[in-house]
Amino acid sequence: MTTHTHTRACDLTLSLPPTGWLEFGAGALRRLPATVLRTGHRRVFVVTDPGLRTTGLVDLVVRTLTGAGIDCDVHDAIPPNPSTGAVDTAAAQAREFGEAAVVALGGGSALDAAKGVALLAVNPGSAAEFDYRVEPQRPGLPLIAIPTTAGTGAETNGFGVIEDKARHRKVYIGHDTVKPVASILDPELTVGLPPSATAATGMDALVHGIESLASRGANPVSRGYAAQAVGVVSRWLPAAVEDGTDLEARSQLLLGAHLAGLALSISGLGLVHGVAHAVTARVGAPHGLALSAVLPEVMAWCAPQAGDALARVAREMGAGQDPASAVDACRKLAEQVGARRPLSAYGVTADMVEDLARTALEDAVTGNSPRRPTEDDIAGLITSCL
Ligand SMILES: NC(=O)c1ccc[n+]([C@@H]2O[C@H](COP(=O)([O-])OP(=O)(O)OC[C@H]3O[C@@H](n4cnc5c(N)ncnc54)[C@H](O)[C@@H]3O)[C@@H](O)[C@H]2O)c1
Ligand SMILES: [Fe+2]
Repeated sequence: MTTHTHTRACDLTLSLPPTGWLEFGAGALRRLPATVLRTGHRRVFVVTDPGLRTTGLVDLVVRTLTGAGIDCDVHDAIPPNPSTGAVDTAAAQAREFGEAAVVALGGGSALDAAKGVALLAVNPGSAAEFDYRVEPQRPGLPLIAIPTTAGTGAETNGFGVIEDKARHRKVYIGHDTVKPVASILDPELTVGLPPSATAATGMDALVHGIESLASRGANPVSRGYAAQAVGVVSRWLPAAVEDGTDLEARSQLLLGAHLAGLALSISGLGLVHGVAHAVTARVGAPHGLALSAVLPEVMAWCAPQAGDALARVAREMGAGQDPASAVDACRKLAEQVGARRPLSAYGVTADMVEDLARTALEDAVTGNSPRRPTEDDIAGLITSCL
């Protein structure tokens, strides 16, 4: 069934976010000092997480900076799925350090937290007050993103997905001025990511592409990015999970995740993310695994209103033209990379369903769903994935 009207390219008026400076390729980290200097700063505040400290990547980045005469301070305590409190703690250290460029090193958690830090370092208040719709007194510090997972594409936008612990939900904190001015995509930094995390983060990128294609906010440009992302990620994810040292697969995944980020930053996401955000905020499941637990079910439910988008997904995945084949191909890919478990495996129980459905419905991303769900629809979907 066709639901999207095809807009003729000559009729378009699009306001597209600028894409920023991009350094891409094995060894691109070497270009970090020059990238910092381009911001006009000679000092750097690094925001990262304890896992990255263990891998040695934090030391590598610090050596790269100090070797070029750039002074730096490091905050390495950002937890997975960071909360507003974690952002406030990092921001207090950044205020102490003073004017600097901010370098975000890590997965989506570190990158997202760094956006809040770059804003709060030069503005009074706490993270919870910096909903992305709020205009700050001062623009944030310039942010350089160095993703070490190929998943969120968080380097492409200025909002962080941050947990509000008191309300068990994800909120969007940030501003256009903390959209990274530059990103360094170096596949060598992702070779140490274990297979399970490679699979989870890669599924995140795939879902970004799929939800972007099907979003009410999609346009011909976002569809171009999203379709390519779905093709690249589905083609290379099994290879990267199988052999983490395969630099070609790692490069392709970083590119795919970045394209998916560009797509979602234009179009918005959808109900798979709405449900997964609620699940993670409640039981702490890793983002990509929460998405994979509900992806085929939500796609199948949306299919009556997303025929064109899902047919495109099927084509990009080499699975024919049929929306139902896209659903099957996604289920099979998630199973193949070991990312598909029922929600109960993460601690979701039947008594949580009503609350999760309410939270998912209130999440801003759910508004982009091609088929509009009621709270009961969402509760039914969650129950079918328990
Ligand atoms: N801003 C956006 O557009 C956007 C989009 C989707 C998701 N998100 C958010 O991003 C977060 C998830 O990010 P993520 O999936 O990248 O995971 P993550 O940042 O939470 O990282 C997961 C784990 O992997 C480890 N790790 C990261 N890189 C590594 C490497 N190269 N080698 C070894 N270990 C490594 C980290 O130390 C961490 O323990 C969630 O909070 C989610 O809500 C944001
Ligand atoms: Fe995501």
